[in-house]
Amino acid sequence: MKTKSTLFLNIKSLVQVEAQNQKTPSFRAGKQMQDLPSIENAFLLIENGKIKEFGRMEEMNDEQKSAWLDSSEIEKIDATDKFILPSFVDSHTHIVYAGSRETEFEDRIHGLTYEEIAKRGGGILNSAKRLQQTSEEELYEAAYQRLFEMIGFGTGAAEIKSGYGLTLEDELKMLRVIRKLKEVSPIKIKATFLGAHTFPKEISRESYMNLLTQKMIPQVAAENLADYCDVFCDRGFFTVEETDRILNVATKYGLKAKLHANELDTSGGVQIGVKHGARSVDHLEHMGEDEINSLLNSVNSAKNYSQTMPTLLPSTAFFLRLEYAPARKLIESGLPVSLATDYNPGSSPSGNMSFVLSLACIHMQMTPEEALNAATLNSAYAIELEKTHGIICKNTDANLILTKKIPSLAFLPYSFGSNLIEQVFVGGNRI
Ligand code: NIG
Ligand code: FE
Repeated sequence: MKTKSTLFLNIKSLVQVEAQNQKTPSFRAGKQMQDLPSIENAFLLIENGKIKEFGRMEEMNDEQKSAWLDSSEIEKIDATDKFILPSFVDSHTHIVYAGSRETEFEDRIHGLTYEEIAKRGGGILNSAKRLQQTSEEELYEAAYQRLFEMIGFGTGAAEIKSGYGLTLEDELKMLRVIRKLKEVSPIKIKATFLGAHTFPKEISRESYMNLLTQKMIPQVAAENLADYCDVFCDRGFFTVEETDRILNVATKYGLKAKLHANELDTSGGVQIGVKHGARSVDHLEHMGEDEINSLLNSVNSAKNYSQTMPTLLPSTAFFLRLEYAPARKLIESGLPVSLATDYNPGSSPSGNMSFVLSLACIHMQMTPEEALNAATLNSAYAIELEKTHGIICKNTDANLILTKKIPSLAFLPYSFGSNLIEQVFVGGNRI
């Protein structure tokens, strides 16, 4: 389908653009996280769903002016006092789920912790019970709504995990829902197998480990249902040894590692993730020197190893009243940081990336520039989309956010809770 061309004019600032004559890095780390290449008073042209051209208003030449300004084929949008940014990349979500968990929310108000609720059979097991009783169609409908809610909040690419199935059939059911979402979604989606989310009560620990490594992973790989394999490596969940065993098998079957690590304790999850060349290790509320050094060493520490992206999920810390991850310490050590929502029914029932930006600035003392890098280029890297997403780059899909009139970029995270996104464009189409 040919989409109409759109020309934005007088953009106050075109943020996070591919710098001219300079290769954009795959991610920004340490001090570079403060860099956010932008063009003030800019234009941007979308043609056939792609970013065709952009630059300074003054640089628009006569030929371009006569071809574009008078053409009835091109819709013109005056963006005076408005910003354009690349869409956010939400690299960590669990949006395929059944029901909701506000009873546990109330339990926490009365003093129970997330771990206490999980030990009583609530938490992930609560969601698993509901998911097992829900049909694939119903799950798909609910997840589809959540996906479009996220897109409306400015998300232009996302990762979605399984992990509420906890049986072979139900994990496959979740992954099939994600596959269907991939097929119909206007935005790019990556799928993650998270069978190792918790241990079901019905079978022994060892039996579940065998199920994961001997049946689930081979089957997920055979049906090509996932890009990554994730493990919740933390106190009360999977040990480092179990994580190692699972990731050894996953790697053998071509599933790359990702981890839930160090949310509840310094679990050893970061190091085991780096050992397996994980593309990202996520949560990181508990981080010591060893964890930081391990991440620093992950930069090309061995052949085929890539940088493991530390991904922070501040809305989870907010919702569960946990310590926030030490973003400043990571950035000042020279590491990159990415941000995601963790959208799920138990620890972060929200897919709002703007709110994540506000929390990152307010509670983790990230600057607005660092937070924007973390939510665009760096989070694109966390799901291997940094070449096409998280940056305004010619000939890539026009996945963009047009803000309302705002005085500065900092005004976005500053105005927490306000919706300052005027329009979202996906593949050049207004959503
Ligand atoms: O990322 N920490 C583990 N998994 C999810 C929460 C899952 C749940 O409570 O349903 C998370 O926070
Ligand atoms: Fe999560």
